[in-house]
Amino acid sequence: MTAQELRETYINFFVAHGHTQIASASLIPENDPTVLFTTAGMHPLVPYLLGETHPGGRRLVDCQKCLRTGDIDEVGDANHLTLFEMLGNWSLGDYFKQESITLSHRFLTEALGIPQERISVTVFAGDESAPRDDESAGIWQSLGYPAGRIYYYGKKDNWWGPAGTTGPCGPDTEIFFDTGKPACGAHCDPSCGCGKHVEIWNNVFMQYYKDADGSFTPLRQRNVDTGLGLERVLAIINGQSSTYDTAQFRPTIQKIAALTGTQYEESTQRAYRIIADHLRASTFILGDDKAVSPSNVDQGYILRRLIRRAYRYLSQMNAPAGAMAEIAAVILEQYGGVYPELARNSAFVLAQLNREEETFGRALEQGLRMANKYLDRAQGGRLDGEDAFRLYDTYGFPLEFTVELATERGMAVDTTGFELLYAAHQEKSRAGAAQKFKGGLADSSDATAKLHSATHLLNAALRRVLGDGVFQRGSNITPERLRFDFSFDRKMTPAEVAEVQRLVNESIAAGAEITCEEMTVEEAKAQGAIGIFTDKYGERVKVYTMGAFSKEICGGPHATNTAALGSFKIQKEEASSAGVRRIKATIAAE
Ligand code: SER
Repeated sequence: MTAQELRETYINFFVAHGHTQIASASLIPENDPTVLFTTAGMHPLVPYLLGETHPGGRRLVDCQKCLRTGDIDEVGDANHLTLFEMLGNWSLGDYFKQESITLSHRFLTEALGIPQERISVTVFAGDESAPRDDESAGIWQSLGYPAGRIYYYGKKDNWWGPAGTTGPCGPDTEIFFDTGKPACGAHCDPSCGCGKHVEIWNNVFMQYYKDADGSFTPLRQRNVDTGLGLERVLAIINGQSSTYDTAQFRPTIQKIAALTGTQYEESTQRAYRIIADHLRASTFILGDDKAVSPSNVDQGYILRRLIRRAYRYLSQMNAPAGAMAEIAAVILEQYGGVYPELARNSAFVLAQLNREEETFGRALEQGLRMANKYLDRAQGGRLDGEDAFRLYDTYGFPLEFTVELATERGMAVDTTGFELLYAAHQEKSRAGAAQKFKGGLADSSDATAKLHSATHLLNAALRRVLGDGVFQRGSNITPERLRFDFSFDRKMTPAEVAEVQRLVNESIAAGAEITCEEMTVEEAKAQGAIGIFTDKYGERVKVYTMGAFSKEICGGPHATNTAALGSFKIQKEEASSAGVRRIKATIAAE
């Protein structure tokens, strides 16, 4: 089965069971300050899981591009991926455990033909906050799964959410495929992590709300949120032991071999996988309509790390200049039909990769000069760990390169000292990353809803003052402020800033009602709505209107009248990246 057949089989199966297909959202979350990337299909759906109505109805299905950087250092083994596609289906207050589990079982065994005896499942064991999920276990049993293949685990394994400190959450039931590898011991089970059992699907039953005091209250709207990893399932149904062996990676791997004159074999496998994974993820980030480019902060920083790591491995294999863009061209060709934004932004993707290659190439040259200098002054035929780490940290010069240079001179490098400093540094950046990825998702408090409405007014005002060439590039809202990125290629003058602020305040003073209507993307366009249009023909969207001033496609939530916004103040206008400006603004009660 090809990836496209799998996507279609999944979508068609759930559409046949009353679900509406929705398009993949951007990889860069909207309005969400707590996450850098969309890490699950449910991210873009948080407002609806919290009770907003979705124009597609109460049963949804999609294939969402997702990116997770938590395990970036594990990439290179058989299954870890940075970018992956997540097939997902949702019930927003509609069906619950019985139907969800039955649908999953039928999809795997009937639509995909996976032998039922190779499937094991896990359910929540229960604790002081919620009872043992005997209901799910009972449903699995009634479908023919023997008690011996139904495992009970605690919160660590079988509970999902809340994404932040408060919010919807609940027990989940996870579905594992038995790869047929020998058991690792008497206690080998889905939780042991030896690789015999591979998790393929997670069905989350969002039936509780976790309060700030840590208590769990049953939710009125009980949701189901499921996620199934496309690449993993593809490997399983095609009998492959690694996701990198699937057709998804074949064209990229062939291209790397052709460019480097090497073979994909045991000794090069890890490097090939890192290059293939990192360039696929980079291509998707650059190919998103949000136009993220490599930088030293946020998404741009992750992107830079991915590109530079791929570049390093490619240069070790003597790839020619421009190799990254050539590999990306293969990826763009492969995925452009499924994710049209990639085709749209292909020139940007290639140009950015070439630009980063030049910048990093220069940095490496500088690193080489410094490395030679440090080696010249090193004592006793040995470069100390601090110098090796400085080369790595300040000049981006990889340890392998330093060791190679030292060896050429008959010298050694204190790699243990390097590792110690590296581990300390990792610890620090992991703590930072954990902060960024800890979730929190859309907080739907009054304060953020108002700032969200102010963002729409700001967007409209900017277009009036600076012209129709202004488009939203990003939005990030905390309860204290809004941050809005938009396309514009120079600093705004103080008079322009003042005029934008005045227009927003004028709209607030007008006290316009904020209304929401559902319509198709085409109808929204015809009405002159701005916003992020999905590529799916006929998809229904919500359009928020604020008087005659603003009409924008958006999921909400919003205030009900502009008067609630109080007074609007632009705190800062600054550059964000090439061709993109950033405004930070606040609102205050009058
Ligand atoms: N949100 C759950 C997950 O990420 C199910 O989609 O696993």
